[in-house]
Amino acid sequence: SSQAELHQQWGGVVPEVASRAHVEAMLPVVETALNLAEVKKPAAIAVTNRPGLIGGLSVGVTTAKALALAWQVPLIGVHHLEGHILSVLADATEALQFPHLCLIVSGGHTELIKVQAPGRYTVLSETIDDAAGEAFDKGARLLGLGYPGGARVQERATHGNPKRYPLPIAIPNDPYHFSFSGLKTAVLRLTQKEGECLDVPDAAASLQAAIVGALAAKVEGALETTGLKTLTLVGGVAANLALRARLKETANKYGVSFHTPDPSLCTDNAAM
Ligand code: KG4
Ligand code: ZN
Repeated sequence: SSQAELHQQWGGVVPEVASRAHVEAMLPVVETALNLAEVKKPAAIAVTNRPGLIGGLSVGVTTAKALALAWQVPLIGVHHLEGHILSVLADATEALQFPHLCLIVSGGHTELIKVQAPGRYTVLSETIDDAAGEAFDKGARLLGLGYPGGARVQERATHGNPKRYPLPIAIPNDPYHFSFSGLKTAVLRLTQKEGECLDVPDAAASLQAAIVGALAAKVEGALETTGLKTLTLVGGVAANLALRARLKETANKYGVSFHTPDPSLCTDNAAM
């Protein structure tokens, strides 16, 4: 079940609207999933319990608790980011090595994580302001592309020239940390300066190139510093084809293996 269409009219997620939509979708989705899996009673129930918008989380957790109690099966709370980090296992065609370097890029997070083993994580870096997904979403809004931003920027960027509008990206002095808030201001200035003359596909391509470039630069630094031999890319922004291609190149350049889930398993989903 997706709420994308519902939130489109507001240009973003309205928490209260999201919670209500969760209530409506919850039981039909659970029922459909059990029917499709041909399972009457599952062996356990896993539920995302943190972090995120509290309304949606409570609906999920309450439903999961009630079902676990009624069925007398274990209840497993899942950290949302851990779900993303391990989502790469769903598609791994070859054995995934631990420890590995994970770039997690979503609407709320941009982090480089050393994954020692499932359950053992060290956060190497994070964003000092906006997340990469926010940079896509806010940029999309400024370019009049609407919601959901990331996928729309990617779509328009396909026919754009990424070199047309060079957008500055802040590379904080610190070797790891990310910063995306300046990019938003740069896009705003660009739209003000160009006005009607703005070429939207070129601007979308330039925005995407700036975000991908900033992410790739930090990943390269982290691969050099840590010497890790496996790289994974997860989170909603990992669905971005330009980012996937760029990090694959980076991985080849450094001789490390690269894993990322199918794009359908990058944005939030229950399998993770
Ligand atoms: O992980 P996710 O589905 O939800 C959060 O946990 O935040 O990530 C959502 C983010 C949004 O910012 C959305 O614009 C971005 O992922 N996103 C993309 C693409 N698909 C989703 N960004 C760039 N390119 C895409 N194709
Ligand atoms: Zn997510």
